Amino acid sequence: MQTSALPPTVDQCVGASVPKPAAASHDVLDLAPDDRRTAFVGRLEIAWDPRILEPRPWTADQSRWAARLLTTLPPGPVLELCSGAGHIGLLTVAGTRRELVCVDREPVATAYAADNAARNGIGAQVHARTATIEEVAEEPTRYALVLADPPWVPSAGIDRFPEDPPGAIDGGPDGTDLAVACVRTAATVLLPGGALVLQLGTAEQATGAVAEAAAAHGLTVEEVRPCAGGVLVLLR
Ligand SMILES: C[S@@+](CC[C@H](N)C(=O)[O-])C[C@H]1O[C@@H](n2cnc3c(N)ncnc32)[C@H](O)[C@@H]1O
Repeated sequence: MQTSALPPTVDQCVGASVPKPAAASHDVLDLAPDDRRTAFVGRLEIAWDPRILEPRPWTADQSRWAARLLTTLPPGPVLELCSGAGHIGLLTVAGTRRELVCVDREPVATAYAADNAARNGIGAQVHARTATIEEVAEEPTRYALVLADPPWVPSAGIDRFPEDPPGAIDGGPDGTDLAVACVRTAATVLLPGGALVLQLGTAEQATGAVAEAAAAHGLTVEEVRPCAGGVLVLLR
């Protein structure tokens, strides 16, 4: 389990106001109280249950990279697409004054993201909303940073992960369907000078379909970093 703390980040002004969400319902959490688990990811205590993906410790690397980037990005809120339990976004903004909007299509995921924000004392700067990747692109809010952790396992391979909810990992034929959707949305909602930090399974996914989609929408793959459980991609 990852235990090291994030580097200190410079407090940033909060930019454009974020959409006020319909409050994430905590009723869905009460449906499975006995299944609830908690673990530390980085320095945050994160709760989840098997209806959503178990937080993977290595994904704290995405938060660390993003937190460093935030110190040089323009003022403005942070968007986390495909948030699941929300730990990647929460670790990124904890210790800053950035607002964070966590979005996932599963109500149980956004309920956990809201719960985890409150559990770690940063509920006031976090808004968790149930929506699809595409729906976010229809909204007027613009973001300094987009974090995205879409399903990226090729459909034919999801049987290798029987513990994981299929909807959380199935990325379509080559694993990039949802990642491409995230790139499209990010290209619409990023502020000038903003950045997208995207999680994928392989470097080939980054340099293939994702790079093509990025180019078509005015973004460029700037760096691909191999990590313990996948790759992280910086796009601007
Ligand atoms: C790989 S999981 C990542 C969850 C979390 N970031 C983590 O590390 O545990 C992908 C998440 O994307 C969500 N998701 C899948 N398709 C989506 C869509 N079209 N719009 C929004 N969220 C989606 C799933 O519900 C799931 O929580």
